[in-house]
Amino acid sequence: MKQIQHADDMRFWADEQRSLHKTIGFVPTMGALHTGHLSLAEAAVRDNDLGVASIFVNPTQFAPLEDFDQYPRPLEEDLAKLETAGIAAVYMPTAAEMYPRNFSTYIDVEQVSQGLCGGSRPHFFRGVATVVTKLFNAVKPHRAYFGQKDAQQCAVIKRMVRDLDMGIEIVEMPIVREPDGLAMSSRNVYLTAEDRKRALCLSRALFDAEKKLRNGERDGGVLVQGVRDAMRNVEIDYVALVDAETMQPIREPIRPVVLAVAAFLPTARLIDNIKFDPNTDDAGSQTGSGR
Ligand code: PAJ
Repeated sequence: MKQIQHADDMRFWADEQRSLHKTIGFVPTMGALHTGHLSLAEAAVRDNDLGVASIFVNPTQFAPLEDFDQYPRPLEEDLAKLETAGIAAVYMPTAAEMYPRNFSTYIDVEQVSQGLCGGSRPHFFRGVATVVTKLFNAVKPHRAYFGQKDAQQCAVIKRMVRDLDMGIEIVEMPIVREPDGLAMSSRNVYLTAEDRKRALCLSRALFDAEKKLRNGERDGGVLVQGVRDAMRNVEIDYVALVDAETMQPIREPIRPVVLAVAAFLPTARLIDNIKFDPNTDDAGSQTGSGR
């Protein structure tokens, strides 16, 4: 597996592969890789001639008091996991190269960035959209893989790629969960044993709402309130039913929707969601979320 640090070298490698008519599947990450990340890497390797991953803890998507310094960085383990997944090259730029002195160009994706995580982390999607664009410019992928775990991030990237004619296919992959239902996250390591147990109320609340949706419940207020009630033992950041494409609140799930939650536990902020399409997810059908 090739390790590449500089954008010039990354572009050179990508140009070379493209001139050989190889397709490139790309998985951007911040490292601290778990099975969720690796499911993206495996899909990129499977569906393209070459899989590329990046590891970069992006400072512009963290607010000053968030966990940038504390974010886990187990580099050797991450590289071993990517190699096992069959990744051909890993791009690991430095912050100094990504954000040179007087860096002053940012990408703001309007509407879809507002609300949900954009409401509680106003800086966040501007940092994500900017860094993902820079990573795309270096890696030059044909396809890029993102997790439904960060459903709003997926919607933001899809909108940006469409609006700016980036010509990259965005593939959204299902949420990989722990056996008890907790959505895998690099931040789960921050949880104490007690909070790890309390965190389960997020996925349980969502699965319960999914059951109600399958059984025909179409009142968004009822669904949201049910989730809020089930999350009474954690500090709720938001519970919202939104249109899956625009991320704007919707009262009735008449189009594909996301039911999304975020909660502050004492040591970590956690997010989770389910997607529901009233046109296909009828009573009794299964989703591909590994449960
Ligand atoms: P990171 O949190 O490292 O996540 C990298 C990718 O893995 C994202 O697309 C995320 O949605 C996906 N992922 C995380 N947990 C998952 C799970 N349990 N199941 C499936 N996929 C999962 O998201 C970021 O990094 C950054 O914002 C980034 C896009 C790299 C830009 O800095």
